[in-house]
Amino acid sequence: MRYNSCILAIESSCDDTSVAVIQGRKVLSNVVANQAVHVGYGGVVPELASRAHTQNIVPTVEAALKAAGVAPEALDAIAYTQGPGLMGSLHVGVAFAKAWAYALGKPTIPVHHMHAHILAHFLEPGDPPQLPFLCLTVSGGHTQLVRVNDPMAMEVIGSTRDDAAGEAFDKMAKLMGLPYPGGPEIDRLASDGDPNAFAFTRPKVEGLDMSFSGLKTQILHFLQRELQSNPGFVDERKHDIAASVQHAILDILLSKLEAAVESTGIREVAIAGGVSANRGLRKALETRREQLGWNVHIPPMAYCTDNAAMIAITGAIQYESGFRGTIADSPNPRLPF
Ligand code: KG4
Ligand code: ZN
Repeated sequence: MRYNSCILAIESSCDDTSVAVIQGRKVLSNVVANQAVHVGYGGVVPELASRAHTQNIVPTVEAALKAAGVAPEALDAIAYTQGPGLMGSLHVGVAFAKAWAYALGKPTIPVHHMHAHILAHFLEPGDPPQLPFLCLTVSGGHTQLVRVNDPMAMEVIGSTRDDAAGEAFDKMAKLMGLPYPGGPEIDRLASDGDPNAFAFTRPKVEGLDMSFSGLKTQILHFLQRELQSNPGFVDERKHDIAASVQHAILDILLSKLEAAVESTGIREVAIAGGVSANRGLRKALETRREQLGWNVHIPPMAYCTDNAAMIAITGAIQYESGFRGTIADSPNPRLPF
């Protein structure tokens, strides 16, 4: 695969407006405009998200071009997230990308958001994983085990049957009264808690599929029970609760990842998506590198949570393979993998 093209990419699938410019595998700029409007609502409010994207999109594109030192005329193509995501949010990025590309006379490349989380591993400074590799993709909306035979040929070999891992982190954090998004909060508290302070049972799901909803119910009942005898329980033990909850979620993910390595014989292993920022998960992967001889790929922090650099590299790979979008491509909140 050649990596020569200069791509500008737009990511607007959820609550962050992001624009990146890459040249080959090198990131020239990756600007993320975080939306503060959702603070206080305990989650993303779709209508507020699309309005904020509308306000942010032009200044973010301008900032990304300026930071990259690239003129629009020098771009080979405009990539954008087509889905999955929130309809209103996707719409802003898709409509802007197509209209602007049309005005510039440039091709568009629609990108699948979950493919992009995985293909972030092809960005510099790291070396791309050897093919085939396994990727545990863990975000707020998805949890999948993917076998990547080629950047353009990926196969889901396991996935969650209910909540996504990020969603599980966020829901547990909400039960503990922590602010949204709860994943980073649990991560922070867990770092000085005892992961074995409280034991939770693990779901029994066959094959490589996973489930997190039972754990959520279990923790809800556990907290309700403890709070009855001690109203200060959560506050007093928050580090231990966070560490035990994180341990339970990571245990589910890691046991399935190990089963996937076993059944495929592939030891080239990557993690991707927002939850791959989790320090406990990153450390667990390092341990498996040392103890099981896995060749592990852990994304830099900036490419774990939503960003446009990952959309750009995916767009670049598709562009170099000859793929081009059309003006008829529309946002798809449930874009199939
Ligand atoms: O990939 P992402 O940025 O957006 C989606 O495509 O969903 O993932 C967001 C999710 C949220 O659920 C957030 O709580 C979780 O990733 N997350 C974390 C951490 N940082 C973000 N979960 C656990 N530990 C973290 N450090
Ligand atoms: Zn994402």
